[in-house]
Amino acid sequence: PPTTVQAYRASLLHFHADPAFNPDACLWHEDGLLIVADGKVSAAGDYAQLFPTLPAGALVIDYRGKVIMPGFIDTHLHFPQTDMIASPAPGLLPWLETYTFPTERQFGDPAHAREVADFFLDELLRCGTTTAMVYCTVHRESVDAFFEASAARNLRMAAGKVLMDRNCPEFLRDTAESGARDSEDLIKKWHNKGRAMYAITPRFAPTSTEAQLRMTGELAAAYPDTFIQTHVSENADECSWVKSLFPDARSYLDVYDHYGLMRERAMFGHCIWLDDRDFERMAETGSAAAICPTSNFFLGSGLFDFEKADAARVSLSLATDVGAGTSFSMLQTMNEAYKVARLKGSYLPAARMFYLATLGAARSMQLEGTIGSFVAGAEADFIVLDPKATPLLARRTERCNNLEELLFALALLGDDRCVGATYAAGRKVHERASTTQA
Ligand code: GUN
Ligand code: FE
Repeated sequence: PPTTVQAYRASLLHFHADPAFNPDACLWHEDGLLIVADGKVSAAGDYAQLFPTLPAGALVIDYRGKVIMPGFIDTHLHFPQTDMIASPAPGLLPWLETYTFPTERQFGDPAHAREVADFFLDELLRCGTTTAMVYCTVHRESVDAFFEASAARNLRMAAGKVLMDRNCPEFLRDTAESGARDSEDLIKKWHNKGRAMYAITPRFAPTSTEAQLRMTGELAAAYPDTFIQTHVSENADECSWVKSLFPDARSYLDVYDHYGLMRERAMFGHCIWLDDRDFERMAETGSAAAICPTSNFFLGSGLFDFEKADAARVSLSLATDVGAGTSFSMLQTMNEAYKVARLKGSYLPAARMFYLATLGAARSMQLEGTIGSFVAGAEADFIVLDPKATPLLARRTERCNNLEELLFALALLGDDRCVGATYAAGRKVHERASTTQA
């Protein structure tokens, strides 16, 4: 079939490096053009330069006044927790017992799992998130439902079956053997099928026996290009619990290290109470941290230490951690990440927050060149942000003097209302009702 070329005229924003370590990391084209051919980026740059290169008859979609950037990447959240978001509980462990486990019980029912997965993915797209690393439940059916819903929208998503064989209700328990077997079956069924990517998902150290952690590490070694996702050092009570369950480990993170669960493509949620040695191990092993500020504020878990993480040069990304997180919006997540940094005495420039939610996350997942920026050949997952989405934003952004101020206003005042449209692999998958092309 003939190549289909589409071009989008708007201000373009993307990154080629981390603004924290490279002052020229941000790529900005005030009057830009994004050219997409067969679902992939073929060029991104200045309109005046690129327009003449378009083939005759190529369609130019006019989004002038808007900002086009790569779709957001949310590196840690739980699709089965969609229906229990904002459930009141005094901290992580009571919240898991009271709300999370009973809610997750329902996902052995494929029809229920599919209905929630459909809502969840549409909500992500409405918020401008085009890739996520997603926890399903202990049930295989929940993973099938999720990847079927994701394939129906042609999204690049990582997800996996939760592994847990102790310290949870009987109705949510697998065994070391069944968990490994089911995970391997799901890897063979889904990993790299279309845009699906499998994530081996031990929930967290307290809910896995040593036998399960050992078999999980073996699986991760046998399938080195799969992802690994788990929780680490989120909450003080959880950390003491791990200490008592694994008295020989040097630290909570060391439990995972011992079982071979630290490697490239391993994503550790929270990382709040890590020490310097832990951060060094993260960097040495190519493991990545998913920073979950709305969740950490909501459960009162603690504040991520950007300075320590940066000193060790750990790969960082932002994540919502829905349903402990209180918003699907990565803009809202930036807002709260900014405040975490301030409370710790450090500072997060807006450019860095947008980097962490795009290229930073793609790098954390070893997907640079595939998603997260507009290099030629990247998959055309992008969003159209409207800096005038609300009366207040319109008023505020009109008064911005530079790009950093504009991005800062979007991060602090923005949410799903700013996402005018979302495209996945070059196809529009969400359009905000009130948004019209210029
Ligand atoms: N630790 C173990 N399971 C969970 C979960 O579902 N959410 C959060 N926030 N922390 C966890
Ligand atoms: Fe989580």
